[in-house]
Amino acid sequence: MVVSSSKTRKVVIVGAGFVGSSYAYALLNQGTVHQLVLVDLDKERAEGEARDLNHGMPFASQMKIRAGDYNECRNADLVVITAGANQKPGETRLDLASKNANIMKGIVENIMETGFDGILLVATNPVDVLTQVAYDVSGLPKERVIGSGTILDTARFKYLLSDYFEVDSRNVHAYIVGEHGDTELPIWSHVQIGGLPLNVYGQIENYHEDLDMQNIFENVRDAAYHIIERKGATYYGIGLGLARLTKAILYNENSILTVSTAFNGEYGLNDVFLGIPAVVNEQGVREILRLNLSESEQEKLEHSAQVLKDMYAGISY
Ligand code: 2OP
Repeated sequence: MVVSSSKTRKVVIVGAGFVGSSYAYALLNQGTVHQLVLVDLDKERAEGEARDLNHGMPFASQMKIRAGDYNECRNADLVVITAGANQKPGETRLDLASKNANIMKGIVENIMETGFDGILLVATNPVDVLTQVAYDVSGLPKERVIGSGTILDTARFKYLLSDYFEVDSRNVHAYIVGEHGDTELPIWSHVQIGGLPLNVYGQIENYHEDLDMQNIFENVRDAAYHIIERKGATYYGIGLGLARLTKAILYNENSILTVSTAFNGEYGLNDVFLGIPAVVNEQGVREILRLNLSESEQEKLEHSAQVLKDMYAGISY
């Protein structure tokens, strides 16, 4: 599938809850798409969100927003799945796996029955395992089934580093990889601020023993728990992250983003989906970046992959 610049850019969002509607709001604000359709089991909810968004159009960009049904997926460039049960306070993303795997299966079957032949983007948690479920059920090529992976964790990491060093977050290059969840890991060996490694810019020689750096990572890893304790859910950050990914896909940007994607021997991993920096364009995931990881980073990545494989093996759908 190739999206030419003159073509209508059509996105369908399945799930008009907090995440889906925040993402729709980000798309409206940024003028990324021409047509946006909201699909939800609760049709009234989708209709209400579509109307509310449409009323903001004179302040934003011109596009078509409507509530619809799965038939809208037939000619969509991108279908984004945000539907599913939420993470409850104290509940890990792993606890959600079986519940949401069954929901995911039904949604993907509905999408594929329409003859959909675009890119599928999954944001429902636990996102890595559910992206693998979506891949299996859809029969689409692996490059066209993408999970939001650790895009939000990476953004949180960049933000917290930028706040600490008082530097624009867009000048911080840093990755969180692995599971979007408890076993994710920072790639300290590749953190750069304005092109300078941390030992040069921040004079931080051993980031594994630096308490401030450890604290930053822990706040990244546990961010969702901290926010959910306070406001019950997270949605603005992921909404913006999904809008960023949408732009990379529909505008063929070849952007490097830490999406969840299928491994085929990279980093010695197979048969697993997890967050890793990858080049994203109108074909989906073009390639996984092969970073030169330290020994401990490689070990932690393998551990994260094993946890996800075990989870995937443990769910039935
Ligand atoms: C987040 O990390 C809960 O996945 C959601 O904010």
